[in-house]
Amino acid sequence: MSDTNKKTVLSCIQPTGDMHLGNYFGAVKNWVDLQSDYDCVYGVVDYHAMTMPYDVKKLRSNTWELITNLVAVGVKPENLFVQSLVPEHAELCWIFNCFCGIGELGRMTQFKDKSKKNEEEQSNKFISAGLLDYPVLQTADILIYKADYVPVGKDQEQHLELSRNIAGRFNHQVGQEYFVLPEGLYTETPKIMSTADPMRKMSKSAGEKHYISVFSDSKRIEKQIKSAVTDTGEVSEKMSAGVQNLFMILKASGDTISHDQLMDTYRDGNLRYGDLKVAVAESVVKMTDDFKVRRAEISADKKQLKSQIKASSADIRRKAQETIREVKDLVGLLNVRF
Ligand code: AMP
Ligand code: TRP
Repeated sequence: MSDTNKKTVLSCIQPTGDMHLGNYFGAVKNWVDLQSDYDCVYGVVDYHAMTMPYDVKKLRSNTWELITNLVAVGVKPENLFVQSLVPEHAELCWIFNCFCGIGELGRMTQFKDKSKKNEEEQSNKFISAGLLDYPVLQTADILIYKADYVPVGKDQEQHLELSRNIAGRFNHQVGQEYFVLPEGLYTETPKIMSTADPMRKMSKSAGEKHYISVFSDSKRIEKQIKSAVTDTGEVSEKMSAGVQNLFMILKASGDTISHDQLMDTYRDGNLRYGDLKVAVAESVVKMTDDFKVRRAEISADKKQLKSQIKASSADIRRKAQETIREVKDLVGLLNVRF
């Protein structure tokens, strides 16, 4: 980070398990590509991962695992930070809580979905205040670096709108355009669907068959793609959601030649879904094999990666501290440097 003429890009991901093709094609691939033209800051948001029931024994190792995976797919370690190593995010979250209406939070789709899931699946039906407050912490993640752009999947659009509302309310209250209103950046594949049920998005929380992990073994990836649901049986003029999803994955994984050829065959009415699946499986396996090689190299020196990430988190923290100092001034808090 830190070339003053460049615009700032920020995004984050929760350490809640495997990285799947939805995460990669919807957001992380963009993170990698944007690094050449922007000042990029990318966070592994472990505070966010505490908002749903979780295993305290696993959070730390999940955080390191996700970092390893992000570096393996091409995120530069110097652009990466761990959220809990930059406690100013939580401090800014508190300040923003006072600029956010509770009604706004109750309307968030992700809150509604996740609290419903807790109610259905947990014996004690516990829903934490952290889950409701989650988008305010997300707003702090974004605004603390005064990010211009936020590369995310489409499911985050509502959270981004909230962050603009909070920024606007804050600016109005302090009487100056202090915070930039951040904009989302979407890939050509902002919503990858589950191959087992193409009517729902690919997601970890929906269960194992509903996501294809970037790092699972090739045989499993192949099997999941080959058993993808293509047609629901209805005859229709329109391409079915499952077939569309496979074409999308094929293009995103880089085999545009097969994509275009198979698309022509489809238009002529001669596409065999088996051929499409073979092409998708080959292309995804080729792409993920490269990631796996890189991950094995990084994993051979975990110490080195850990010390790199601690150093980059400390570096990135300086920017967050600068913002917090300015914000405290603006909102009328004491600003003493000990
Ligand atoms: P999550 O796994 O929910 O922490 O999401 C991490 C990033 O991946 C966010 O930017 C999401 O918007 C994006 N994402 C998650 N699922 C999908 C999906 N099925 N399609 C596209 N993007 C996704
Ligand atoms: N809410 C995002 C998700 O579920 C993760 C996230 C947390 C995030 N803080 C962020 C994304 C800041 C972009 C910017 O995927």
